[in-house]
Amino acid sequence: MTLTERLSYYANMTEKALETALSSPNESLYPSIFHATRYSALGGGKRLRPALVLEFCRVCGGDLSKALPFAAALEMIHTYSLIHDDLPCMDDDDLRRGKPTNHKAFGEATAVLAGDALLTRAFETALDPRSTAGLPADTVLQAASCLARAAGMDGMIGGQILDLESEGRRIPQEALMLLQQLKTGRLIGAAAAMGCIIAGGDDEALEAASRYTDNLGLAFQIEDDLLDIEGDITRFGKPIGSDAENSKATFPSLLGVQRCYELVRELTDNAIRAAQLFPDHGFLTDLANYLVSRDC
Ligand code: IPE
Ligand code: IPE
Ligand code: MG
Ligand code: MG
Ligand code: MG
Repeated sequence: MTLTERLSYYANMTEKALETALSSPNESLYPSIFHATRYSALGGGKRLRPALVLEFCRVCGGDLSKALPFAAALEMIHTYSLIHDDLPCMDDDDLRRGKPTNHKAFGEATAVLAGDALLTRAFETALDPRSTAGLPADTVLQAASCLARAAGMDGMIGGQILDLESEGRRIPQEALMLLQQLKTGRLIGAAAAMGCIIAGGDDEALEAASRYTDNLGLAFQIEDDLLDIEGDITRFGKPIGSDAENSKATFPSLLGVQRCYELVRELTDNAIRAAQLFPDHGFLTDLANYLVSRDC
């Protein structure tokens, strides 16, 4: 399979798992929350994180169907983080994945609840005995705990608070690095780690996966910050200039655009070197290279 074929294969699997996860027999009793969660979670996004869960499971010799609930759970947490990130009290953005942000479509209160609902449904999905049947209980626990840590205060939330508190300030490079590693790196790291854990990968695999995603995650956020400056709104699917408007602390604002392009290339090359531990690393290599030149 080519990179594009495998990405869409993983995206289709994820889409179906999300459709199932975001439905309920009680739906007709309180439909708005289902509309609001599905609006943001279905039919959009690059599905990078689920692809990493599934691919690391595959390169570690695991069964993709066992990793799928964790891939869907991670995408739900990522989507919740985007809904809340776009709120007026945070980045105050109007466009996401090419359409009005959740709070623009449903109002702020529903958007807050849609985010909360996705976060909770993520763990309902990952811990559902029907979807995890056949996996050892300690494997499920290890993967779910990895996801919780990455999403919480020592992960994405920690990064988001640093991001908000750094608005309008010029912070040192080490502080900016920590901010980016937490807000973006941790969930991307959890994707790879969960794939390895579900497949029963050893410590060497987990360590290589972590080196891959540490580099890829940072490159990914710097590229996002570059696209926020130089991207095309119709491809990017979210506003251009949002970071400047909010005086965000970003790598381009600290180091300049040119140095950032070089840094993204260096980090990508580091990620590609880390992937070589896996004999079948073609997709991981192609994915890293593709992310450097992405426009969305
Ligand atoms: C956006 O993530 C937020 C960042 C961490 C940069 P993505 O660029 O993966 O967003 P979607 O899922 O494709 O919409
Ligand atoms: C936010 O980073 C990453 C999250 C944890 C949601 P950004 O604020 O740069 O993400 P975008 O550009 O709005 O997607
Ligand atoms: Mg933000
Ligand atoms: Mg934002
Ligand atoms: Mg951004």
